Amino acid sequence: MERVIGIDLGTTNSCVSVFEGDQPAVISNRGGYKTTPSVVAVTEAGKRLVGHIAKRQAITNAENTVYAAKRLIGRKWSSPQVKNAVLTSSYAINEGPHGDVRIRLRDKTYSVPEISSIVLQEMKIIAEDYLGEPVRKAVITVPAYFNDNQRQATKDAGTIAGLDVIRIINEPTAAALAYGYGKDLDRTVAVYDLGGGTFDVSILEIGSSGVFKVISTTGDTFLGGEDFDARIIDWLVSGFQREHTIDLRQDRMALQRLRDAAEKAKCELSSVKETEINLPFIISTGRNEALHLQRTLTRDTLEKLTDDLVERTVEICRQALEDARLHVDDIEDVILVGGMTRMPAVQTSVAAFFGREPNKSVHPDEVVAVGAAIQGAALVQEKKDMILLDVTPHALGIMTFGSNFEELIPQNTTVPTSRAKIFTTSRDDQTAVKILVMQGESRQAADNEMLGEFILTGLRRAPKGHVEIEVTFEINTDGIVSVAAKDLDTGQAQSIQVTASSGLTQDEIKAMMAGAKDYMVERRADEEFEGVKQEAETLIAEIERLFPEIERVVGTADFGRDAIAKARSAVDRARGAMKDRDPNAVRLQVEQLQRTQRMFKGVVARG
Ligand SMILES: Nc1ncnc2c1ncn2[C@@H]1O[C@H](COP(=O)(O)OP(=O)(O)OP(=O)(O)O)[C@@H](O)[C@H]1O
Ligand SMILES: [Mg+2]
Repeated sequence: MERVIGIDLGTTNSCVSVFEGDQPAVISNRGGYKTTPSVVAVTEAGKRLVGHIAKRQAITNAENTVYAAKRLIGRKWSSPQVKNAVLTSSYAINEGPHGDVRIRLRDKTYSVPEISSIVLQEMKIIAEDYLGEPVRKAVITVPAYFNDNQRQATKDAGTIAGLDVIRIINEPTAAALAYGYGKDLDRTVAVYDLGGGTFDVSILEIGSSGVFKVISTTGDTFLGGEDFDARIIDWLVSGFQREHTIDLRQDRMALQRLRDAAEKAKCELSSVKETEINLPFIISTGRNEALHLQRTLTRDTLEKLTDDLVERTVEICRQALEDARLHVDDIEDVILVGGMTRMPAVQTSVAAFFGREPNKSVHPDEVVAVGAAIQGAALVQEKKDMILLDVTPHALGIMTFGSNFEELIPQNTTVPTSRAKIFTTSRDDQTAVKILVMQGESRQAADNEMLGEFILTGLRRAPKGHVEIEVTFEINTDGIVSVAAKDLDTGQAQSIQVTASSGLTQDEIKAMMAGAKDYMVERRADEEFEGVKQEAETLIAEIERLFPEIERVVGTADFGRDAIAKARSAVDRARGAMKDRDPNAVRLQVEQLQRTQRMFKGVVARG
């Protein structure tokens, strides 16, 4: 039986799981962690890094380190979310050739699916290392509220990574599967999933016959831990600005250090009441003087800074219940998913809204991948004892005369589904119609997401309204859309699967697949060297940051000048060893650098 892995491709962290025997298992990476940061970087030498190794070097290589790419996937350059990301990211985001988004890392430009494919490929390797055999088939999860463009782009990422994506499933649905699998439950549940970048809530009926039926789903694909972090960063930056009239955002390295510190403080405040944020040498004034940032953040302040975000998630829960035509009392269990649900204010707000303590039996970081693995196994084994009925999160329709949105498939319709509707020409002698396919909830076409367009030509000349065109929409089990139009007079038809939407053409995807294959072999052989090299680079950056302060404190004493000279030569030797790409030589230098760094820190602490 061919193995299928389940991958939770998260904004912040990704996780992979596989079915073994009759149980799903979460697979640890080589560092022993069950989740891997969704971070991709390119080093000075042009090597790609993924996961923890990429995250660790983010500060010293901020411009070439991509995090939270999922916030950009399947989005158009012109979207407000992309505009926002351009302003707040430490890496460069540019417009692509198809109105899409591209990311520049060193001298190469990447599409967003390509960046995500690097993370997926890493998850594939983690599974292969564990299983000791190649893996091809995968089930990948997406936020329930993702539209067709975002789903398609995620599928493309899987293809570029060399995976056969047999199904895309919604994250909250996957969580519910993992929660209810093999338990013979009969109840209505709400899944509240607040992750790093997205928020989803789904209401499901779990039946004792193994039926998981989604009744409604709603969410916000731009609401998550990143936004909480951003509030802390704003607070730190504006405080610093008031004190020193310096905008820390102008410095990419400072910005990356702020991001790290903000996230760390946020997580700490889930278990303690206050925490110290301490960032020495955060920026230089240009007068050979470095400034430090030091502030205490309390849980109270954090809650004040972010209460509107939490309130937004509660509003969305209210909407989900309304869409499901249910009352809070109908919900028999509330399942918390996503790292952000560890925040006490989130837990109390959810408990207050639903009037019950949320269930904490599932692991918030792993449950989505586990659900994907369960679904994967069910698909290949054609298990009949588990039926998953999901819904489409957005209404689907076309634009009609007057820029109106004509809905064909309503929101929360069970998929797969197909619907047809007959339209007529809007002008006399009109021989062609343009079908604009859109997804969204607004009556105004312009407010909805455009998925694609196509033109049906060669219509018979006739007075307006006399030529009839049948438009058929189909949504498959991945939530992916295809559309057909037919001239009912002549039977002439035209159809599209709304593809090029991720901004990539089929040729581009093929070329990227070939490229990914080339580099994989290379990456494994080089891994050892990259590991030590990064350690050395981080140490060097730290030491070089301390040089001005050291000069000031001990630069006039003989022993001080001597120490500085020794430090400079240690840095030079380390650089030389890195140039020779010899891991052992670099490792030796790392030890020397560590000693230097300790000594410098001691001097600074005393000075
Ligand atoms: N103890 C904690 N307290 C508060 N927040 C936390 C804690 N632990 C993790 N987080 C936050 O949870 C978020 C990551 O959650 P998770 O790993 O579920 O997201 P993801 O699956 O990567 O994202 P998404 O599902 O939105 O694509 C981060 O913003 C992280 O800072
Ligand atoms: Mg998640």
